[in-house]
Amino acid sequence: MRLITQTFFMILMLTGTLLFSSCMEDSSKPGWEYMPDMAHSVAYETYSSNPVFKDSITNRIPVKGSIPLYQGNVGQLNHFRPYKYSNTPTGYDSAGLFVKNPLTIDTSSLGEGKRLFNIYCSPCHGAGGKGNGSIVENPGIKNPYPPPPSYYSENLLALPEGKMFHSVHYGRNLMGSYASQLDQNQIWMVISYIRSMQTHYTDSIKSITATANQPK
Ligand code: HEC
Repeated sequence: MRLITQTFFMILMLTGTLLFSSCMEDSSKPGWEYMPDMAHSVAYETYSSNPVFKDSITNRIPVKGSIPLYQGNVGQLNHFRPYKYSNTPTGYDSAGLFVKNPLTIDTSSLGEGKRLFNIYCSPCHGAGGKGNGSIVENPGIKNPYPPPPSYYSENLLALPEGKMFHSVHYGRNLMGSYASQLDQNQIWMVISYIRSMQTHYTDSIKSITATANQPK
């Protein structure tokens, strides 16, 4: 009986010592682990040092030229098509020749283009695209923004859509780049909307001249 009590007491002491010794004084450090089991990942953690690679970095940089696919938009056009023309006059000219609007233009893409245009472009270009946006024609602003060209100027009516895309993607002179606000599809929706305003304008001019030339 005495032996059992003694053994029981010793076991109790031992468990107690083990329990308390697993608590470290420094509360910011974990205690000792007796049964780590699955506490530690077998794979190298993202930011842990890595013996496999020479530079010991686990979080690898993607292979040069890789692009994120779909970003959750499986089935839709890939928003991250690489844009291969450089931000140079030659790149601008090539874009004018080879970059084409990949979207089917319908009421929904035009509607979205209009919505985006009114948010991002109308403050300078004006809701109607005449270059008279709120920061251009604002009597409250001491130094109003110099008016951008009207979309109905000869130059911009003749501007190829690829050059438009290029300018919105990279920015042009006083106009900044919209590449980080609008993905490529969105830029094309906005351009489709600008084009529809231009067509509407040229059609209306044609009908005015036609009426004017009618025999009296
Ligand atoms: C901060 C004012 C400002 C905003 C906002 C702005 N633009 Fe412009 N935009 C300009 C100016 C200024 C020019 C004339 C650039 C030049 O040729 O010197 C211009 C030129 C353009 C051109 C003609 C480019 C070319 O190649 O000649 C297009 C197309 C255009 N803008 C589209 C857009 C679209 C689309 C948006 C919205 C996503 C937008 N702009 C937003 C100021 C602005």
